[in-house]
Amino acid sequence: MTRVGVAVPAAGSGRRMGGVRKPFLELAGRPVLEHALRPFLADERVVAVVVALSTADSDDPPAWLTALDPRVGIVEGGQSRGASVARAIDALPHDLDVIAVHDAARPLVSPETVAACIDVAAAGDGAVAGCPAVDTMKTVDAEGWIDATPARARLWHAHTPQVFPADALRRAYASGHEDATDDAALAEAIGVRVRMIDDGGVNPKVTRPHDVVVAEALLRARGDGA
Ligand code: CTP
Ligand code: MG
Repeated sequence: MTRVGVAVPAAGSGRRMGGVRKPFLELAGRPVLEHALRPFLADERVVAVVVALSTADSDDPPAWLTALDPRVGIVEGGQSRGASVARAIDALPHDLDVIAVHDAARPLVSPETVAACIDVAAAGDGAVAGCPAVDTMKTVDAEGWIDATPARARLWHAHTPQVFPADALRRAYASGHEDATDDAALAEAIGVRVRMIDDGGVNPKVTRPHDVVVAEALLRARGDGA
């Protein structure tokens, strides 16, 4: 069976939420991070999960997290998302076939999306959960003046999980992760073929205060809450 490791960046400071530690925010009765981990722990191909936490949290991790599942480990994160992912990848076992990266701040990812992305990576390519753009998108200059309107039909939002053959993701991160806002960009840059997997647009990242309202409503609508 395919051996899958999961790297979960959870070391951010939640600046756009007003300094809230998003992974530990309770939504529908459970921490955001627990919602984010469950669909991975439900996949029997997942053999290890490493969560990158802030220095304070990794020194004193919450009891619910250390007790959640024997496959879950904790590492200290870095100054950027990329640095946190890199540390989590380094702490995963070395004999994996596939590595998935999933933001702790995405509590709504479904088991079906996780499984579909792992299937693509197990077959040798990369996979990114996301959805087609529903709004017309603009590129602008530094002052906000529009300089182009790219054809919407080919634009997608990139979410997580982002899942790759393990050796490809390790090579991608070895070539530097300073400027990347996602993992696929690093893989694309070294020639990995990556495809989008439609998550239906119901896999938001808890980023701004109103996202909490949306995420909680979606969780409850799914019957996933107290
Ligand atoms: N992350 C991380 N290490 C960092 C920065 C971010 O592990 N140094 C993680 C966050 O915890 C989150 C994911 O990367 O799960 C996506 O980042 P984002 O939504 O931007 O979270 P924050 O960086 O915490 O939020 P903000 O940018 O508003 O400060
Ligand atoms: Mg951030």
